[in-house]
Amino acid sequence: MTVLGIESTAHTLSIGISKQGRILSNVIDMYSGGSEGLIPRKLADHHSNVFSSVLLEALTGAKLSMNDIDLIAFSQGPGIGAPLSVGVSAAKYLALVYGKKIIGVNHPYAHVKIGEHCCKMRDPLVLYLSGGNTQILEQMANGHYIVLGETLDIGIGNLFDTFARAIKMENAHGSALAKLAENGNYIPLPYTVKGMNLVFSGLLTSAEKAAKKHSHLDVACSLMENAFAMTCEVTERALFLTKKKSLLVCGGVAQNRRLQEMLKIMCKEDNVKFGVAPDEYNRDNGAMIAYAGELLYKKYGAMKIEKCDPITNYRIDRMKEILR
Ligand SMILES: [Fe+2]
Repeated sequence: MTVLGIESTAHTLSIGISKQGRILSNVIDMYSGGSEGLIPRKLADHHSNVFSSVLLEALTGAKLSMNDIDLIAFSQGPGIGAPLSVGVSAAKYLALVYGKKIIGVNHPYAHVKIGEHCCKMRDPLVLYLSGGNTQILEQMANGHYIVLGETLDIGIGNLFDTFARAIKMENAHGSALAKLAENGNYIPLPYTVKGMNLVFSGLLTSAEKAAKKHSHLDVACSLMENAFAMTCEVTERALFLTKKKSLLVCGGVAQNRRLQEMLKIMCKEDNVKFGVAPDEYNRDNGAMIAYAGELLYKKYGAMKIEKCDPITNYRIDRMKEILR
């Protein structure tokens, strides 16, 4: 089976192609809003503008044409309404015009499955970290996921992006903040965990206040250290609860090397196998949607086109209800 996967939930428009689980192409075009953040209308315009060239490049890279595609998989949510709708509409259009089967894919599920595939892991505890999401996930016997712990307010990536905008960084993004944090020294900031859940807004407010009197390098360093230490603590608690012997970290923030280092140390101490996919598959990407689309199609079959609507608040623990 050859699957074309479309990703458009936030800042990235990406199209990837997979065949029997092998990735043939993965073209990624990310909108960079500079210091103004993610403005939904601008993201949607970006995705519309680059869609045809990204599609062409993905097909050319895989040495295929639309005739060779068996299934269109699209990221169904969670995501920002305007950009998400561009990808969903395009997926429906391609399926109707070319007479292809279609399936909607939960975005976090795709991050988990491509991570397991890359790391050759079966049934790990999953730490999913991105702009809007921060969750600890466990797979049940029926293949569905439950959320063991999560942020009770903002996502960890959103925490970093919001702070970067508050200190007026030109490229207000977590990756740029991580570079700044490399040269800072630790100063005390709030640390809030509640069982296996996290709270980041108090940390953000204190960091914004601290940035008015301390060096931005030091506050960036301390903000990231605390957020990652809090994340490690709740993850370790979930590891002990579930008695899992492997941990997969996935999602955009999983690319952070300091976080990876902290999790590796924790896993070594706890005798747990640690896995993280290459950066290409932790960014938002179409290949993971194609890969996960094939897994879901084998289990549930294609979706009726009337069910192919964007679901902006599509939590991973709602998959059973949506795919039924
Ligand atoms: Fe993502």
